[in-house]
Amino acid sequence: MKIAFFDSGIGGLSVLHHAMKILPDEKFIFFADEDNVPYGTKTREQVLNYVDAAFKFLTTQNVGAIVVACNTATSVAVRAMREKYSLPIIGMEPAIKVALDLYPHKKVFVAATEITVRGEKIYNLIDRLDAKNFVELHAMQKLVDFAERQEFNSSAVENYLREEFAPYDFKNFSSIVLGCTHFNYFKDTMKKILPAHIKILDGNAGTLNQLVRLANLKIGKGKKNPSVEYFYSGRRVTSSEELARLENYLQRLDEMFFI
Ligand code: DGL
Repeated sequence: MKIAFFDSGIGGLSVLHHAMKILPDEKFIFFADEDNVPYGTKTREQVLNYVDAAFKFLTTQNVGAIVVACNTATSVAVRAMREKYSLPIIGMEPAIKVALDLYPHKKVFVAATEITVRGEKIYNLIDRLDAKNFVELHAMQKLVDFAERQEFNSSAVENYLREEFAPYDFKNFSSIVLGCTHFNYFKDTMKKILPAHIKILDGNAGTLNQLVRLANLKIGKGKKNPSVEYFYSGRRVTSSEELARLENYLQRLDEMFFI
């Protein structure tokens, strides 16, 4: 089956990267909406329009499922897309439940985009888990720009992370949940700054479990070079320069995978 992974930019590659490791029989499409990234600073209406345009394109590509590998797009548009299309559509969910199941008595720091931390979807999730007093939501929008520029561990990134983390006493926290797929590129830099006991959790495994279940796929050991077609906002990526850029991201994700 051909499966599409969609994101505002290159964050969703972290979900595709994980999928390529565990789905040996599938082919992949990756759609980064590079014309409109970042989504997190836009209005909900704008994001809904971007996602709508991406789905219009992706549903012409003979795909059996679409993974919305973007927490922001999931928060704004996944429900509307499910009403419109009948193929399996899998969204992202910040791994708050995983964190609370592992460490029930400690707080969870959720880092996400501006839209996601304001959105109803995340408050519904926190309510469902009855976790209001255990979750701290924090927008770290600038990381999206750093990631798009392939700036992962510069002193500007470190300073930004230090400033954002400074108001919190991490003694009371067990973990940081990455509520934006662009944030996976910063795991080592976060680890360097945060106290040693803080775990870094992302929602990729949860999303892929859902994909496997809904699209009826077989998990195994992924192929070394699976077939992936890359698109930027609907345009096929063919230039060797851009393909090398994407390859760099995948290499970075290899380094981040076991953190
Ligand atoms: N990668 C995205 C997410 O998971 C969106 C980042 C952005 O475009 O602001 O939320």
